[in-house]
Amino acid sequence: MNREHTAETAPTALIVVSHHRSDSLTSAVAERAAKRLAAGGYRVDVLDLHEEGFDPRGRVADEPDYGNRDKVYSPEVHRHIARVHAADVIVAVFPIWWFGLPALLKGWIDRVWNYGLTYGRSKSPMHSKRMLWLALAGLAEDDPNADLIHSMLDGTLRRGISEFCGIPEVHTAALFDSEAQGLTGADRDRHYRELFAKADKAIDRMI
Ligand SMILES: Cc1cc2nc3c(=O)[nH]c(=O)nc-3n(C[C@H](O)[C@H](O)[C@H](O)COP(=O)(O)O)c2cc1C
Repeated sequence: MNREHTAETAPTALIVVSHHRSDSLTSAVAERAAKRLAAGGYRVDVLDLHEEGFDPRGRVADEPDYGNRDKVYSPEVHRHIARVHAADVIVAVFPIWWFGLPALLKGWIDRVWNYGLTYGRSKSPMHSKRMLWLALAGLAEDDPNADLIHSMLDGTLRRGISEFCGIPEVHTAALFDSEAQGLTGADRDRHYRELFAKADKAIDRMI
């Protein structure tokens, strides 16, 4: 879908990157997504969880209190949720680790996407947002276990997190064979061109 934007109405895209290496494929995909969204008229906020030193460890201050949806959590959580609330589009870019999210990104969801902040209100603070979960997977797409990745994206991430929190438009995409197993030279280059093209297509659906 193409949406027209002017400088005054420029929407915001929050790109959440979870990787410890700035030269990772994950980081390269996130950087490319940021450029594409900026070219599409978005104000882009890149949240690099590792670079910014986000601490995924739980703490008492960030435990939900189901009797008080206005609970004040830790300052770190409120700084992060302000960036989430300011975004029209949220794009999470991450490697699949053990058929799930890296602990850093999971901890960000656990702590920041908290009761009263993303869910638990009659009108969801997330009701007008769109989201893309953009995953990189080492497995080949025809691997017998690739279905576990599809079901994780569609189940846990799209339905269990985003839709549970009231986000009405949620997309997922997986870039398989992210390490180009067994490929060399031109075949390897072609494979990475195809992965980047798939990432571009997923981003373009958000613009
Ligand atoms: C701890 C760990 C667990 C992994 N688990 C999986 C997995 O369950 N499924 C999968 O397809 N790839 C898995 N991989 C491979 C990563 O998805 C792959 O290394 C990554 O997509 C490559 O991108 P990067 O260069 O940005 O790290 C795992 C890698 C690591 C380091």
